[in-house]
Amino acid sequence: MKIRVLGSAAGGGFPQWNCNCHNCHRIRRNEMNGKPRTQSSIAVSTDDRNWLLFNTSPDILTQLHAFPAIQPREGVRDTGIKAILLIDSQIDHTTGLLMLRESRQPLDIYCSDMVKQDLSTGFPTFKMLEDYCTVNHHPVPLDGSSFTIPSIEDLKFYTQSLKSKAPPYSPHRNDPHDGDNIGVIIEQISTGKKVFYAPGLGEIEPHVMDAMQLADCVMVDGTFWTDDEMVTQNISHKRAREIGHLPQSGPGGMIEVLNSLPNTRRILIHINNTNPILDEDSEQRKTLDAAGIEVSYDGMEIDL
Ligand code: MLT
Ligand code: MN
Ligand code: ZN
Repeated sequence: MKIRVLGSAAGGGFPQWNCNCHNCHRIRRNEMNGKPRTQSSIAVSTDDRNWLLFNTSPDILTQLHAFPAIQPREGVRDTGIKAILLIDSQIDHTTGLLMLRESRQPLDIYCSDMVKQDLSTGFPTFKMLEDYCTVNHHPVPLDGSSFTIPSIEDLKFYTQSLKSKAPPYSPHRNDPHDGDNIGVIIEQISTGKKVFYAPGLGEIEPHVMDAMQLADCVMVDGTFWTDDEMVTQNISHKRAREIGHLPQSGPGGMIEVLNSLPNTRRILIHINNTNPILDEDSEQRKTLDAAGIEVSYDGMEIDL
């Protein structure tokens, strides 16, 4: 299977339009060894033609322009996007749905009932799209059973509920439900190769560890280096764990978890603009390099 990283940044992107943090300030002035990034999304295919989108970023139009394999091929209207799977209902993962309103077919959207509820109430994109292309909602199972998606050949999917956070506008922001946020195992049927994708991961529960151990490649939450990153940079009073993201450094952090999987390809995605790993010359980035942990970037392709 092929995975294309359409966008690798967390909400706000990098640099963020109004941000003057150490990273944003320097990347804007070309004073940092690093890459600008759009908000997180990946596309997956086994034939280079029919793609499943994971999340629809506010930056989706830029991401599609940069990726010929997903662009129209025949007829007056066409797309390589055959279906969309939503990990959560956060703005950085769902706003792009509105950019796909010109679709000739209803959008086939796979997501949990919780995400569907958010996208019909707090951020009613599903309702808005009723007056454009309309949406076919396909609920995803949270009990460990697998499912397939028509026209996405040779892949099967296992979705599991994760401990992260519903968005601020969700009617159940402070009342967590299964399915507010999910992780996905993507398995290629013909080869048995598996990827675990979880861009928002607040806690490594036993079922998450099991999924990571089974995978040949994990693409997981790379949002923050430390729990207090936004606090110490005077950006926000919110801590990483409070908003559903496990930081990379320190005891029980993501690096420690990933170091327990030495034979797995390990890639961080959904990286916040405050994270020092965006500076490719930073000590923090060197720590990842030494551990063999990769930092995804826009346009990265993973062949598995
Ligand atoms: C998050 O995952 O916490 C987000 O990136 C927040 C946002 O989109 O503002
Ligand atoms: Mn996010
Ligand atoms: Zn910034």
